[in-house]
Amino acid sequence: MNRLSFVSDSTFDAERLRRQLAGLLDVHFIELAGIRRAKPERFTVVSAKLGNASNLLDLKEWMKSRPQGGKVIFATQPGSRLEQTQAFALGATDTVNSPIDAKELLQKIWSDFAVLGGDASELRTQGHVAAAAAQDGLDSIFSVCRGQPLDASKVTAASAAVVDEIESKGLSSWIETVRKHHSQTYQHCLLVTGVAAAFGQSLGLALADRNRLSSAGMMHDVGKALIPVAILEKPGALDAAEMAIMKKHPEYGVEALKSGVDIHPDMVDIVAHHHEYLDGSGYPHGLSAHEISDLVRIMTIADVYSALIERRSYKPPMPSQKAYDILREMGPKVDQDLVRAFSPVTKAAA
Ligand SMILES: [Fe+2]
Ligand SMILES: [Fe+2]
Repeated sequence: MNRLSFVSDSTFDAERLRRQLAGLLDVHFIELAGIRRAKPERFTVVSAKLGNASNLLDLKEWMKSRPQGGKVIFATQPGSRLEQTQAFALGATDTVNSPIDAKELLQKIWSDFAVLGGDASELRTQGHVAAAAAQDGLDSIFSVCRGQPLDASKVTAASAAVVDEIESKGLSSWIETVRKHHSQTYQHCLLVTGVAAAFGQSLGLALADRNRLSSAGMMHDVGKALIPVAILEKPGALDAAEMAIMKKHPEYGVEALKSGVDIHPDMVDIVAHHHEYLDGSGYPHGLSAHEISDLVRIMTIADVYSALIERRSYKPPMPSQKAYDILREMGPKVDQDLVRAFSPVTKAAA
């Protein structure tokens, strides 16, 4: 579960917040006077009287060492411009009214996440039933990173719906539908889901395995729910620092799946290793061929191909054949026997 540092001079307030956020965030109480000894977490809430100048300097210094993309939310008196100004001068990323309302706080913490998804009902009214189900499945998967339980029935229903849609209407119609999604991240996950389902069909796998590939497509980037949206949805190439943050998503995903959610080990394997390459040049562990399962190899191909053919705001989508050529040119990084078997899928997508 995600931890939240609660900086305060009141253990009573800390207890109250702990009760309100039970099951969502693990509240870790830090006394303002002892702040220098504490380790900053990704989320911090400061609710303390800021009168003492030496404490203020300590707090300011401490906040500088918070994780990149971390949020520091100050509780301020409603309508107090002075407190708000002071909070932002100290490095607050946002403020909430004091006394803290847990719902308002959660909205501030997860505001990044909220802009990612969308309204599945819009897809539904347009007749894109499987895409709407897949979006619901993605919402549920991404909410695991908020400490909420995974709604496995939604994911199972969505996987089956996507397999059915791909097999009845074909991959190109799926690509056309999901390329319209306003979020690059959702578009990507929906593309990978469809491509993986089509790959399973092309390989002649049993229905249970085709459904598993479809689920895996939805699950694979779950850790992206913890990457700042400014990086996820950046309309341009990422710089080195942003890329370093982005590359943490497999580990974030595995961490999120550990928090009491009952997920099949195959799915955890995919979340952890879909950016590993057979020649050991991938991340996060630099695994080599014998350590990478067939299921992961399939997902890596679906993932690379989908990322290449995505619609981006700053460039036209790459033609399917060109994306396939790039997979071929990747040589020993990806399983070239599987890449050959993938060829009919890319033709169906064109
Ligand atoms: Fe990924
Ligand atoms: Fe991906």
